[in-house]
Formats: sequence, structure tokens, C-alpha cells
Amino acid sequence: MKKNIGAKVRGFPTPIILVGTTDENGRHNFATLAWAGICCSEPPSIQISVRLSRHSHAAIIANKAFSVNIPSNKFVVETDFCGIASGRNLDKPATAGLKVEPGPVLGVPLAADFPVSYECRLTHTVHVGSHDLFVGEVVSCLVEESLLNEKDAVQASKMEPLIYMTEDAYYDLGPRLAPSFNVGKALMPGREQGA
Ligand SMILES: Cc1cc2nc3c(=O)[nH]c(=O)nc-3n(C[C@H](O)[C@H](O)[C@H](O)COP(=O)(O)O)c2cc1C
Repeated sequence: MKKNIGAKVRGFPTPIILVGTTDENGRHNFATLAWAGICCSEPPSIQISVRLSRHSHAAIIANKAFSVNIPSNKFVVETDFCGIASGRNLDKPATAGLKVEPGPVLGVPLAADFPVSYECRLTHTVHVGSHDLFVGEVVSCLVEESLLNEKDAVQASKMEPLIYMTEDAYYDLGPRLAPSFNVGKALMPGREQGA
């Protein structure tokens, strides 16, 4: 039995990322976003949703570029800090002790110690309401080498990303459950069950 709790977005687990930008004064900034995800394969693209009032919002419009940085669980304090302080009046990377390095293609600020970072060139801006949806084409994907297997696939157990539950808390990823595009085959009609 489900209860209709109204027009709300509750109970929706999301990734947690830090968007990296450079403002009109050349200052680097990181802001924490939960509303983010992959949205296209060709060209490889990421969407992020940014409230119009954020300092990062103006910087993305001005530079037409941003980075997406995935923290590991050991950066949970720095991650939360970048979601409650604004780069408008604070040097967040320096205050949080987050090392910044320029992206190899666009020069956007990357969080050097996070396991995965993407450089994105802004391709679409969709005005939704309180937030603008920015779509960025991925032009480089930087992955900590020790996380990669021989096929350049990222090993989740080593990456230790954070999962976010809206209005609640950050969680660890948890154990690997089942292989994707695979475990569901057990329900394909015509396939023998069991065994
Ligand atoms: C867990 C968490 C998730 C957040 N997700 C978003 C988001 O998806 N979009 C957004 O605009 N702000 C989000 N915020 C708020 C911004 O990170 C926050 O307003 C920050 O101060 C903006 O920084 P800036 O002014 O330097 O851009 C989130 C904050 C936290 C703590």
C-alpha cells in the first residue's frame, strides 16, 4: 500500500558530485550537487541541475564549461561543506583543503584528489523553474589509475563513491549485488528457470 505524499521528490537516491567552475574574477569554485547524471552516450554528456541563485550558475553561463568531480567517501566532510558555503564570499577549495588542477582540454578546475573527474563543454541550457538544467558534453574523463582494471573499467569497490538520500544523509555504495544486463536474463521467456 502506497501513500501519496504530494508533489515531492522524496525517496530518490542520487549520486553526489562537485561541480567545478571559474568565476568572472578567475576564482575557482566547487559546489555540491545531487541532481546530476549521465544523459547521453553519443556525444557522451552529463546533466546537472543548478539553482539560479548559485554562484556556480553564473560561472557556468559565463564560461560555457564546467567540471564534474566524484568524491570518494573519505571526502564526505569537504563534500558537505561545498554544499553549504558559497564561493561568492569564500575560497572553498582552499578552505576545504581541496587541491585544484586544470583540466587538460578546457582548463576547468578539477578536484585533484577525487577518484574521477570530467571536463564538460556546455551544450544545452534548459530553464525548468527554480533550477536550470545544464547539459555538458564530456571532453575528458580523468580516473585515478589505481581504480582501473586492464580494460580501463572503474572498480567500484576501490572508488568508494557516495550515494545521497534527499533531505537525509550520505551513504556508502554497499556490496556488489548482481551483474547488470545479465541477472535479469533469468526471467527471459523460454529460458529454463532454476538450476
Ligand atoms: C547534499 C547537497 C546536495 C545539493 N544539491 C544541489 C543541486 O543539485 N543543485 C543546486 O543548485 N544546489 C544543490 N545544493 C546546494 C549548493 O551546493 C549550495 O547552495 C552551495 O552553497 C552553492 O555554492 P555556490 O554558491 O558556490 O555555487 C546541494 C547541497 C547539498 C549539501
